[in-house]
Amino acid sequence: MQFFIDTANLDEIREAQDMGILDGVTTNPSLMAKEGIKGEANVNKHYQQICDIVDDNVSAEVIATDYEGMLREGRALAKLDDKIVVKVPMTRDGVKAISTFTAEGIRTNCTLVFSAGQAILAAKAGADYVSPFIGRLDDIAHDGMGLIGQIREIYDNFGFQTEILAASVRHTMHLIECAELGADVATCPLKVITGLLNHPLTDIGLAKFLEDHKKNNA
Ligand code: E4P
Repeated sequence: MQFFIDTANLDEIREAQDMGILDGVTTNPSLMAKEGIKGEANVNKHYQQICDIVDDNVSAEVIATDYEGMLREGRALAKLDDKIVVKVPMTRDGVKAISTFTAEGIRTNCTLVFSAGQAILAAKAGADYVSPFIGRLDDIAHDGMGLIGQIREIYDNFGFQTEILAASVRHTMHLIECAELGADVATCPLKVITGLLNHPLTDIGLAKFLEDHKKNNA
């Protein structure tokens, strides 16, 4: 299973990379806005800085909603760095753009996916990643995790190569359940990843080991 970090914050990306467990980064226009990054030149510079930190897989989202605009923006993003994966929304034009990018060898992440039907379309178009948003489905009393299982089953039925990138992952149980269900990737905030570290018995056990070592070496 791959771990992506869902942020545009360079310090958090560095921290996750330094842990040695990071496989990629997802960003979106809201995350860019949170960091105060605006204007095409600054946004592109920021993507480049992210690419300089991580080994691969930096999802950079197109803003255009029409096919031609998506192609223009996506091609420009892909040229920034080989690590860029062009993030395209699940719309009619988005599916068409993903098909074209696939034919051109540009990697894509189909974002804003909320149903199995949308995930099938993304795979048919040849998306490298499909991003079902678990948390946002849970927010409206739908079964986000159920969707991950459904997509896994469908993709396995037909051998679709599109990787399931569980997105909108809000807490550690989301992450663990994604792993159980066979999501290929989960993207989440740093605190969800570091949350996996915590267990009181680890803390108690370590304190006891250190205490015994100290007594034994007094
Ligand atoms: C995925 O690529 C999105 O950036 C992200 O996971 C959305 O998460 P949110 O619902 O917590 O905003």
